[in-house]
Amino acid sequence: EVRYPSLRKKPFIHFRIMSKPNKHESKRGSKRESKRCVEAQCLPILQHKATLTKLVKDNVFLVVTGETGSGKTTQLPQYLYEAGLWKGGIIGITQPRRVAAITVAQRVSQEMHFTLGKEVGYQVRFDDCTSQATVVKYMTDGCLLREILADPGLSQYSVVILDEAHERSLNTDILLGLLKKTLLQADKGSKDGSVRLRVVVMSATLETDKLSTFLGHCPVFTIPGRTFPVTSRFGNAIGPKEVDIALEVHVSEVAGDILVFLTGQSEIEKACDMLYEKAESIDYRYDVQDQTVEGLLILPLYGSMPTDQQRQIFQAPPSGIRKCVVATNIAATSLTINGIKYIVDSGFVKQLNHNSRVGMDILEVVPISKSEAQQRAGRAGRTSAGKCFRIYSNEFWEKCMLDYTVPEIQRASLTSVVLTLKCLGVHDVIRFPYLDHPEERLLLEALKQLYQFDAIDRRGQVTQLGRLIMEFPLHPGLTRALLKAAAYGCEDILLPLAAMLSVENIFIRPGHPEKQKEADKKQRNMAAQSGGMNDFATLLSVFQCDSPSAWCKENWIHWRALKSAFSIETQLREILLRLQQKKDFPVETFAGNKSELFRRCLCTGYFTNVARRSIGKIFSTMDGHGTAVHVHPSSSLFDQEAELDWVIFHDMMVTSRVYLRTVCPIRYDWVKDLLPKLHEVDAYELSNIAREEVNEEELAKLESKEAKRQKGILKLEKRNDETSV
Ligand code: CDP
Ligand code: MG
Repeated sequence: EVRYPSLRKKPFIHFRIMSKPNKHESKRGSKRESKRCVEAQCLPILQHKATLTKLVKDNVFLVVTGETGSGKTTQLPQYLYEAGLWKGGIIGITQPRRVAAITVAQRVSQEMHFTLGKEVGYQVRFDDCTSQATVVKYMTDGCLLREILADPGLSQYSVVILDEAHERSLNTDILLGLLKKTLLQADKGSKDGSVRLRVVVMSATLETDKLSTFLGHCPVFTIPGRTFPVTSRFGNAIGPKEVDIALEVHVSEVAGDILVFLTGQSEIEKACDMLYEKAESIDYRYDVQDQTVEGLLILPLYGSMPTDQQRQIFQAPPSGIRKCVVATNIAATSLTINGIKYIVDSGFVKQLNHNSRVGMDILEVVPISKSEAQQRAGRAGRTSAGKCFRIYSNEFWEKCMLDYTVPEIQRASLTSVVLTLKCLGVHDVIRFPYLDHPEERLLLEALKQLYQFDAIDRRGQVTQLGRLIMEFPLHPGLTRALLKAAAYGCEDILLPLAAMLSVENIFIRPGHPEKQKEADKKQRNMAAQSGGMNDFATLLSVFQCDSPSAWCKENWIHWRALKSAFSIETQLREILLRLQQKKDFPVETFAGNKSELFRRCLCTGYFTNVARRSIGKIFSTMDGHGTAVHVHPSSSLFDQEAELDWVIFHDMMVTSRVYLRTVCPIRYDWVKDLLPKLHEVDAYELSNIAREEVNEEELAKLESKEAKRQKGILKLEKRNDETSV
C-alpha cells in the first residue's frame, strides 16, 4: 500500500514542559469542564454512594478498597459532605504525598464549585491553604499527626479518612495505631452508642483483611472495579532504555497515552530532553504506524514541580497528539491520569532507607517490588486493554524484586515519630499497636538519638527541650541548633539556614557538560564570596542575596526553591517568636566572633554528624560506626581536605563510597563536651526503662557504666587535644 504524504497537511507537533498556557488551552476550556462532570458520573464508586455514606455513618472504623482511579479519594469526601457530616466537624483526608493532597484538593474544589481554600482546602508542611470555612480538608499524614499533638481527640473533625493506606507510609501507620488506641477505648466507654469521630481507611490493594482485623474487625467495603487486561513484556539487560522504548511505542503503537516511570527529578528532566530531541527527527508521514497520531506532548511529573505545571498532566491532549508523562512513583497510585494505554517501567524507585552501615537515613534508588510493578502495569488498563514494557529482565524480576514493598516503618528512622508518640503520652513505644512492628533496632536507635539530643531523659520522659523541638516541623538536630542560636539571640542566621535545608535542590545541576562547568564555577565563586570553606554559610549567603530573580538565573540557583525558603523562614520565625514569649525559654550569652558562633550553634545539633580526617582525604565518622567517608565533590571543601581536621555535615550520599554533603569545618573543642553523649548510654537501657517503671537500682548501674565510659572518652579526648586545631 502506498501512502501519500502530501495528503497529510497537519504540522508535526512536539511540546516540552509547558509552563505557559499553550495555544491549545483555550480551545478546550468549557468542554473540559463538562467532560469532567461526565467523568465523575461514570466512576465506579458512584453506584455505591448511598451504601458507603451509611457505612461511614454507622461505624467508628471502616475500610474501603477499590482499584486506583475508582474515585475513592475525590468522590467519597464529597458524598460525606452532601450527607451533612461536615456539620459535626471537618471531613479530613490524609495523603502520604504532598503533591497528591494539593492536586486532589484543587480538583475536588472545582468539582464542587468552591474556591480552593474556602470550603475545600489543603494543608501540607509549610503550606496551609485552609480557612475558617474549610470543611473538606486534604492534608498530608504528617500534618494530621501534628494536629493530634495539639488536640489528641481531634475534636474539630467528624470524619478522618486515612487514604492510600496500602502505601504504608510511616505517618499513616502511626496514625492507624494512634486512632485505634484512642477510638477503640473510647468506643467501649461510650454507652449511648453515639459516634463522634469516624475513621475510614482507604486502600488500593487487598491487604484489607489485615487492616480490618487490626481495627477490631471493622467492616470492609470493596468497590467493584472494571479493569482491562494489560500485557507485560520484559526487556533484557542490554536492551533499549526508557526513552527509546517510549519512542518506539510512539511510532509503532496505536493512539493512547504513555506513562514512563523513572526515579527522580533530574532523571526525569533529562529523559524529557532526550525524548524531545529524538522525537524531533520523526517524520510523521512515514515513521508513524497509526496515522491518526500527529505529535507528541512530553510532560514531566514529580513531587517538587510547581502545581500549575502538575495540573496539565490531567488535561486531555489536543486531538491527534499523544501524551507522554514521565513520572516518579507518584503516578503509581496517588494520582490517576486518564487515557494511559502504555506503561514503560524502569523497575526502580527512590526510597528513604535507614542505612545501618552509616547509621543514617539515605535516599536510595532501589528495585521496586513485584506488587509495585503490577500496580504500575495496571495503570494502563483503566479504560481499555493496555501494554506494559518493562526495562528489566525476567531474571531481574525473579532475583532482585521482593514480593511486597517493605513498609516505611520497617526501614526508616523513627526519631521524629518516637518523639511524637512520647509527647502524646505513649511512653512504651515498643509495645505500641503497630500494624507491622518496626524492627527493635530502629526503635532503639530512635530512643538513643532523642537521648543524645536531650529530647528525652534517661527515664525516657520528654524533656522541656524535647517539647520545644517538637514544635518545629524539622529534623530534631537542626531544631536543636536553631534553639541554641535563639538562646544566644542570633536566630537570624539559623532561621534562614534551616529554611534553606528544608527545600530541595537549591543549586541547579544542568545536564549539559559545558553548562555544568559554568554552574560549578558560579557556585564555587559564591562559596568563596561567603567566606569559603563552609557549605552552610554558602546556603545562608544565597538566602541573603539582594537581587533574587535575575541573580538566581545567572548563578544557576532555583528561584522557586529559594522563594519557598523565604516563606518557610517566615513560618519558622513565627513558631520561634511564639515560643520565645514563654517565660521559660532558655537564654544564654556568648562572647566570640560571628562565624564561630554560627558553627558552634550548628555543632549542638550536628554533633551526631561529626567526622575527623584520618589519612589523606579520608574521614572517619565519630558516631561509633567509624565509617570511612569522603567530602562530596559539590562541596566547597572538596580538594581542600588537607587543611581540615574536624568537620560536621548535613547529610550523606552512598554510592560505592560514602560522601559527606553540606560540610563545614569545626574545632574539636566545640564538640568535645557533646561527643560523650554519643556513647553515654546504651539504647537497650533506654528502652528497658521505657518499658518498665524506673528502678533505682538499675539507674545506679547505669550511672556507674557511664562513669566507665566517661573514662574512655577522657582518654580519647587527651589524644585529640594534642592534634586539635
Ligand atoms: O482514589 P482513587 O484512586 O480511587 O480515584 P481518584 O483519585 O478519586 O480519581 C478519580 C478520577 O478523578 C480519575 O479518573 C482521575 O483521573 C481524576 N482526577 C483528575 O482528573 N484530577 C485530579 N487532580 C485527581 C483525579
Ligand atoms: Mg486515591
